[in-house]
Amino acid sequence: MYYPEEVIEEVRERNDVVDVIGSYVQLKKKGSSYFGLCPFHNEKSPSFSVSPGKQMYYCFGCGKGGNVISFIMEYENFGFVDALKLLADRAGVTLPEAEYSKEDKKRTDEKNLLLEIQKKAALYFYYQLKSENGARGYEYLKNRGLSDQTIKSFGLGFANPYPNDLYRYLKQQGYSDLALKESGLVKIEERGAYDKFWNRVMFPIMDINNRVIGFGGRVMGDGSPKYLNSPETKIFDKSRNLYGMNAARKSRKPYILICEGYMDVISMHQAGFTNAVASLGTAFTLQHGLLIKRYTKEVILAYDSDTAGINAALRAIPILKDAGLSIRVLNLKPYKDPDEFIKAEGAEAFQQRLDEAENSFLFEIRVIKEQYSMEDPEQKTQFFNEAAKKLLEFSDEMERNNYMEAIARTYHISYDLLKRRVIYYGSRTELKEKPMKLRSGIQSRREKDAGVKQAQKLLITWICEEPEIFSKVHNILNPSDFTEGIYQKIAKLLFAQGERGEINPAEILNHFMQGEEEDTQVAAIFHAKLPIYPTREERNRAFRETVLRIKRNHLEEISKHVQQMDELQQIVRKKKELEELNISLD
Ligand code: GTP
Ligand code: MN
Repeated sequence: MYYPEEVIEEVRERNDVVDVIGSYVQLKKKGSSYFGLCPFHNEKSPSFSVSPGKQMYYCFGCGKGGNVISFIMEYENFGFVDALKLLADRAGVTLPEAEYSKEDKKRTDEKNLLLEIQKKAALYFYYQLKSENGARGYEYLKNRGLSDQTIKSFGLGFANPYPNDLYRYLKQQGYSDLALKESGLVKIEERGAYDKFWNRVMFPIMDINNRVIGFGGRVMGDGSPKYLNSPETKIFDKSRNLYGMNAARKSRKPYILICEGYMDVISMHQAGFTNAVASLGTAFTLQHGLLIKRYTKEVILAYDSDTAGINAALRAIPILKDAGLSIRVLNLKPYKDPDEFIKAEGAEAFQQRLDEAENSFLFEIRVIKEQYSMEDPEQKTQFFNEAAKKLLEFSDEMERNNYMEAIARTYHISYDLLKRRVIYYGSRTELKEKPMKLRSGIQSRREKDAGVKQAQKLLITWICEEPEIFSKVHNILNPSDFTEGIYQKIAKLLFAQGERGEINPAEILNHFMQGEEEDTQVAAIFHAKLPIYPTREERNRAFRETVLRIKRNHLEEISKHVQQMDELQQIVRKKKELEELNISLD
């Protein structure tokens, strides 16, 4: 952490969470909390809550949550330091000089230098496009139907037709050969330095924070390679960045559109579909999927309609599924890609195709079908066998039945017959690969883990809502009883606060702000759904069971690792004492 903890906490304390969020989101008081429409996902009725008591926010719809600092990071799309600066300004707190470790500083400096170079290059290309030199590039983009507004908002540019034009400009700006080489924009060879891009229209690639991290360059007209892309560098990781995501994440549409190319993204944005992104020639990765999952639950694949595009879609579907997204597939025929479709048919027709986009499983089945001739009885049988096997992907029975129904209807086969075939293949794989007993064993283990987690989460939330119960918990539990990594870290901080007599959940969040999405995960832990207990007894019983569950689980964990007989006996004794303990809120 770059700032001392007290400073961070002071800034947080001096910015009331309701005040700050209230200036971004319209909030209404309801009970002890405030509610409004969540700024992080699309919704019609408010599930976004802000709690003045906890000084935290949490969305019961999308699960985003945190304290006032994480809100600014999320909403303004800032890093931790920038969010802290904004809030310090707002509250009139003077921040001390940040302290960096030596390696931190070196790494940050290197990255900042590379970012600076990319930005300078982008500005240079943009300037060239607008000057006489770039007339050819400008004309090319205009011919492809791009407006001046679009050219500006995507920062499109032009690389001059000289082999080291950018190199000379950047040298003049004072950058070293080494830095320029690392930027990927320049190749340094024995005979001299050469620009990677020349005589091309330029597409700056931005990360989600609108920082230029690389470029794509297209030849004007025919020529090879058609597109040239920046190599990966310290700031450009192709498997983690999507072209257009910086704008798409703010589009507040219910889904993200995934396509293949720069021009497709730009065309779609220009036509109002500002939720389009592209993976740019590289294969779609799980990291891409998880990045999208941060902003939406659904995607529509708008890949090219040729064989290559269909194959790319077939490869992306299981990855997107792994990321937890639901997927539909767009039909662009008879056009090649979204850009051509929109140019020929317009935005309204495109929207209609989006509304009709096909469920990805039915798309996969249809692709399989095309390999068989349905006129031929043998091939038709084979197709249904393949479909039956594929249906086994669904472990949920109701879901599987719904798909069986859809396939039976579409391909004119009796539902019962298809179902029997699915069961037949299901029993075969079951026997071969997963003996039933073992599976149910694993399942109940997983359920138990979820129960223990739930109990830990419930108790943490409970202590924050009713700090007076800490004294009861404190006698029986200690932080090491919270066995899940992140829960234990929270419990340690929470117990330390409890001992000082000042439960303060928002401060705890300060400790989780630097990690990927960790603050959201932690915020969720403070927002378990507290059941309402109609009677004092039931409340007491729930409390007792929650505490016991956590303690028992910890003792069981310990007993797995004991070496000595007497240790084991001690655990058995402890367990017994535990059951006799009077655990009550009264
Ligand atoms: P336009 O012809 O400009 O409309 O491009 P497109 O988007 O229709 O191009 P295409 O479908 O051919 O390619 C999709 C994406 O793949 C592009 O946006 C590039 O990111 C990438 N790509 C295409 N051609 C090349 C190439 O020759 N080399 C590399 N490295 N990438 C390419
Ligand atoms: Mn195209």
